Amino acid sequence: MTFEKLSDKQKQVFRWPYTDDYKAIICDGAVRSGKTVCMVTSFILWAMKVFDHACFGVCGKTVASAERNLIQPVQTIADLTAYFKVTYSLKTHMLTVKAAERENYFFVFGGKDESSYQLVQGITLSGVLLDEVALMPKSFVNQVLARTLSVEKAKYWFNCNPEGPSHWFYKEWVSQPEKKNALHIHFLMSDNPTLTENMIRQAEAQFEGVFYQRYILGLWVVAEGLIYTMYEEALAEPPEGKADEYALSIDYGTHNPFALLLWGRYGKVWYLVSEYYYSGRDEGKLKTDSDYGEELDRFVDDQLSRYATEDEPYEPPRLDVFIDPSAASFIALLLRKDRYHVIPADNSVLEGIRNTQTAMRRGLIKLSKRCKATIQELQGYSWDSKSQEDKPIKINDHAMDSMRYFVQTKRLARVRRDHSPMFFM
Ligand SMILES: Nc1ncnc2c1ncn2[C@@H]1O[C@H](COP(=O)(O)OP(=O)(O)OP(=O)(O)O)[C@@H](O)[C@H]1O
Ligand SMILES: [Mg+2]
Repeated sequence: MTFEKLSDKQKQVFRWPYTDDYKAIICDGAVRSGKTVCMVTSFILWAMKVFDHACFGVCGKTVASAERNLIQPVQTIADLTAYFKVTYSLKTHMLTVKAAERENYFFVFGGKDESSYQLVQGITLSGVLLDEVALMPKSFVNQVLARTLSVEKAKYWFNCNPEGPSHWFYKEWVSQPEKKNALHIHFLMSDNPTLTENMIRQAEAQFEGVFYQRYILGLWVVAEGLIYTMYEEALAEPPEGKADEYALSIDYGTHNPFALLLWGRYGKVWYLVSEYYYSGRDEGKLKTDSDYGEELDRFVDDQLSRYATEDEPYEPPRLDVFIDPSAASFIALLLRKDRYHVIPADNSVLEGIRNTQTAMRRGLIKLSKRCKATIQELQGYSWDSKSQEDKPIKINDHAMDSMRYFVQTKRLARVRRDHSPMFFM
């Protein structure tokens, strides 16, 4: 790639290191707004202009993500490769950049990789670039910055997407750049000159609520209020007749509610067709695993046998069951039954919520009004705004977890946040 055009904010990223005005730069804001590519290019140009035989730190959330987001693009950016010989060693995680009379070394570290902590300890760095810094622990970032203290001209380069306002990086850097002698530039997608209006609209449609505010508007905002603000748009009854396929999702509970959801796919859309919801605590009677196992079979047979005809008598289908991965004993029981294909669910809460929001917004899932317990939970399911991190309030969240397991584990609405050639998918 080449930088044929640069936006004004990108130009600033290329200019700032050659004045003595700032020690650091912080580029935060929207996804795909052109922060990373121009920062890493400017970083290498500056290093090559100002230093020789010096070492630098290039950090990502993990070594692998730094290689994907920083090292791979660098090797294809003509504005660098036309002037420098760039070689990367996968073994030592070191990028060597050579010009006629000088060369510099860029070591890749991962904020979440244990081994990076040890490697960072012994080395002197003349500059550091931290890509997606809000995903790194503060201890790692401080350790990396400390490695530059003996180099007077060293500079810090940070970029990230926003998180909540109580995040350490926001409190210490973003909210008080003057105190840190940092230049703060806030990016929006309109600051990436390669995005068309259509691409921006497509990206905007991927996010909802707090994630829209953060990843599209680039704001450091608290997650608060209702999580599925758009659920009413997703209410719809499934078409008449049998679905193309069925699947189940389960959030398991004995005292807490047991939330079983039956999903039916009609064409491209997965409908929540029916639910079974039982709260041992509210009903004053706990059910055992084998009770639940029997009720599960009965529920499925009830729901699906209605489509039997004389020509096609009912036979219990073998169904995928996406289940709470911690429900070990019930999973063992389901495995013995041999009529279910058990899939322990991906329990990534935030990513799961984000993808479920997107699935609703894009019409990939629809919810039948007959599922009263699910709808009741949707009406109250909220972010815990008092919490330091993003998390939902953990009450009346059983059908919500069950729904999230289904969407997240089936990868219905995944948004790629890495730098794959595909824009969004
Ligand atoms: N001036 C430019 N010229 C050519 N391509 C560009 C330019 N600016 C950005 N791009 C391209 O746009 C895409 C997004 O840019 P980049 O990865 O730098 O965004 P980002 O702000 O770091 O996004 P994220 O927050 O998702 O990490 C990349 O494919 C990049 O190569
Ligand atoms: Mg980036």
